[in-house]
Amino acid sequence: MTFDYRQDILACDLVPLPDIAAVVGTPTYVYGASAIRSRFGALDAAVATVPHALHYALKANATSAVVRLLRGLGAAADANSVGEIEVALRAGYAPADIVFTGVGKTPAELERAVALDLKAINAESAGELERLEAIATRLGRRTRVALRVNPDIDARSHPHISTGLKRNKFGVPYEQALELCRGMRGRPALRLVGVHVHIGSQITTLEPLARAARAAVAFAEELAREGIELEHLDLGGGLGIAYDGGVEPSADEYASAIIAATRGTRLPLILEPGRWVVGPSGVLLASVVDVKVHPDGRRFVVLDAGMTELLRPALYGAFHRIVAVRRDGRTEVACDVVGPVCESSDAFGVDRSLPDPRPGDLVAILDAGAYGAVMASNYNRRPMPPEVLVDGSAWRVVRRRQTVDDQLACEA
Ligand SMILES: Cc1ncc(COP(=O)(O)O)c(C=O)c1O
Repeated sequence: MTFDYRQDILACDLVPLPDIAAVVGTPTYVYGASAIRSRFGALDAAVATVPHALHYALKANATSAVVRLLRGLGAAADANSVGEIEVALRAGYAPADIVFTGVGKTPAELERAVALDLKAINAESAGELERLEAIATRLGRRTRVALRVNPDIDARSHPHISTGLKRNKFGVPYEQALELCRGMRGRPALRLVGVHVHIGSQITTLEPLARAARAAVAFAEELAREGIELEHLDLGGGLGIAYDGGVEPSADEYASAIIAATRGTRLPLILEPGRWVVGPSGVLLASVVDVKVHPDGRRFVVLDAGMTELLRPALYGAFHRIVAVRRDGRTEVACDVVGPVCESSDAFGVDRSLPDPRPGDLVAILDAGAYGAVMASNYNRRPMPPEVLVDGSAWRVVRRRQTVDDQLACEA
């Protein structure tokens, strides 16, 4: 286990978390390189029997050191903005290793993507295809396009992170998508290379992912019958993790479901995992700044981390386990674990149990490696938190804590 107690002190690999807090302070994200390696490796091995590319979804965690680490493991990239494309390029990913998704790509973003000749621009609408065509024509390019199809499948995840239903803003409905693909034959600036489906995130039942894969295969078969051959099927990301510490879908179970669902095709598969690879590989390390006990007995444990560092609980009511960093035999007490921000939604956990917390204690919020640091904000002029990457017994700061000067450097 990457995060485990060693002599009653929580450590990341071989590094006790208090050692990091003593040098870097809190709140701080801590990631374990070994976990990222083993999770990515497990996924890669699980799909090894079929032609595939794992395009790591930078949106989950776009910190350069993490993006570079994954590049070193053989990952390609899935970018959701030009910012993510530029970070991927600087981390050593070639344009031919990058797919670009996003429901509202600006003309400037499309122009950069066309000029780079990415592996695929995953187009989201008829209008976006028109804009792409105009840009590619002007630049004298034949741009590589995949069409994002909305398969109308319920991911059975949180509504805010479900993207595959007709009522969601993502992709093009099946029939319209077929028409658009047919039409691309007469549009020389557009080269149709793939079909893309992504039905949501934190999906813990494999059936919806398999159904989406079957829908992509059926779509490609229909096109093939009309003489339109693709280069790949992009099945998106979405595989979930067990935030409650229970059983998560394994890489092998996921791969079996996907491989069975795509048996009818020889096309190479693109998968875009994010959360499953990096989520359990990171924690948010925080300190208790206050313990308030109300007359009715309700106990609030106030941390120096809040929704500004980890937004998921406030945004989606997401559950994260919270644990004491030191186990020293104190009695467990019921408490609400909250942040310092002036919003009642700034709470990490209600009715939790922790060993009698006191100011100065360290706690770790688990499974914070995905959609954690990337969603941090400067609300209340709070600084972006630092990030630390641990590898065995070594560790280093891979992003320093932001200062007020850093914030003001962007202002006139
Ligand atoms: C297009 C696309 N691909 C991949 C992902 C990564 O999803 P996850 O982190 O759930 O694997 C997302 C996130 O929702 C996405 O929007």
